[in-house]
Amino acid sequence: MVQIEQIFPSLTWRIRHEAMYPELPFDSVKLASDFDGIHFGLYLDHKLTGVVSLFYEGTVYQFRKLAILPGAQKIGLGSQLMTYILDFCKIQKATKLWCNARVNAKEFYFKFGFHETNKTFFKDGYDFVIMEKELS
Ligand SMILES: CC(C)(COP(=O)(O)OP(=O)(O)OC[C@H]1O[C@@H](n2cnc3c(N)ncnc32)[C@H](O)[C@@H]1OP(=O)(O)O)[C@@H](O)C(=O)NCCC(=O)NCCS
Repeated sequence: MVQIEQIFPSLTWRIRHEAMYPELPFDSVKLASDFDGIHFGLYLDHKLTGVVSLFYEGTVYQFRKLAILPGAQKIGLGSQLMTYILDFCKIQKATKLWCNARVNAKEFYFKFGFHETNKTFFKDGYDFVIMEKELS
């Protein structure tokens, strides 16, 4: 059973750390802006299994740190969280949603209609590309 709900910022940290940066210190997954964000948790059979965080400036939204625990990846949970935040952004009348995508996760975002920009960078051992999707 899957449930998605808004969660307190600090609940994202363990999932981010285990799914995205297990090799880095725990504190490295905390964002300075975390307490300004809107965070969602995906509960699989009542256990917190995935998270994503939304930040916005005006009508432009960014999602950060989409993460599904390693043992639960590739069974559709990331897609459920992505669909949820796309619906949320539309309800908020967002005009655009963007992210710093890990290059190896690009195909995942293509499935949801994101396109690549020409902005790329390298950080914490990963190549990133900015991807975005117009919502209106
Ligand atoms: C990337 C991530 C959020 C995707 O969530 P998920 O639950 O594993 O993905 P889903 O099962 O919903 O969707 C998988 C689909 O995307 C595709 N895909 C492409 N690249 C992928 C990738 N790097 N990881 C997972 N799926 C990927 C799969 O082939 C699959 O396609 P299909 O449905 O046509 O078979 C998750 O794997 C994760 O947390 N990875 C580690 C952290 C990370 O890279 N986060 C993103 C940072 S930009």
